[in-house]
Amino acid sequence: MHSSPDELLATIGSDIHIHVLPAIDDGAATMDDSLALLELHYKAGIRRIVATPHIRSDFFPNTADTIKEAYTKLQSVAAQRWPDLELTYAAEYYADDYLMALIETDELLPLFDRYVLVETSMRSEQPYFIDILRAMIDRGWKPVLAHPERYRPWHHRPQRYAELYEMNVIFQINLLSLGGLYGPAEQALAEKLIQQGWVGAVGSDLHQAAQYRYIHRALQNPSIQLLGDLPLLNHTILLADKA
Ligand SMILES: [Fe+2]
Repeated sequence: MHSSPDELLATIGSDIHIHVLPAIDDGAATMDDSLALLELHYKAGIRRIVATPHIRSDFFPNTADTIKEAYTKLQSVAAQRWPDLELTYAAEYYADDYLMALIETDELLPLFDRYVLVETSMRSEQPYFIDILRAMIDRGWKPVLAHPERYRPWHHRPQRYAELYEMNVIFQINLLSLGGLYGPAEQALAEKLIQQGWVGAVGSDLHQAAQYRYIHRALQNPSIQLLGDLPLLNHTILLADKA
């Protein structure tokens, strides 16, 4: 089944990675910024959004409480403006000692069910990253790896991707990568992962409304038709029980 580019976002239907909560990380700075992002997604046909602010102890020391507070503010406005838009919250966890502590106390905010969005360093190889993923899996979590195409240290190490794929880590690529925001290497790797059939989820990773032109560019990327045909977590979450 193939949709026109304009319909493709509506076909995917959900965004499970977006920095849309106001004044809580490097995403939306104000409530107006948050509403601008929601408006663009709503117009594109998205009806299910999981807000995923950064949790990273050195730069973004968010907690379940700070996230819930920002979410509640946004949701009170969004629910009136777009009654059929389902907005929930989770987090994008940076794999650090703080994440290990949260795993040990079982305090993670999942996208839904036991699926947890996690990222690692884009600049240098973190040798303990695999151990953290294993600890998550041992505790019954299902790691969803944010933007595997953006980890430069792995670009020339295809065995890293194979290793994670065999661990059943779900690869979540960014629409912004397919639109070329981060550069040709990230775009090419996202396309390659789609062609391999290794992509299990897609997110925008939008931080501001001005980036939306790269979403439109992504919708012109021929790979996106293939992506829409993969069994994506985005489809599962649309069918999942409402919390
Ligand atoms: Fe992100």
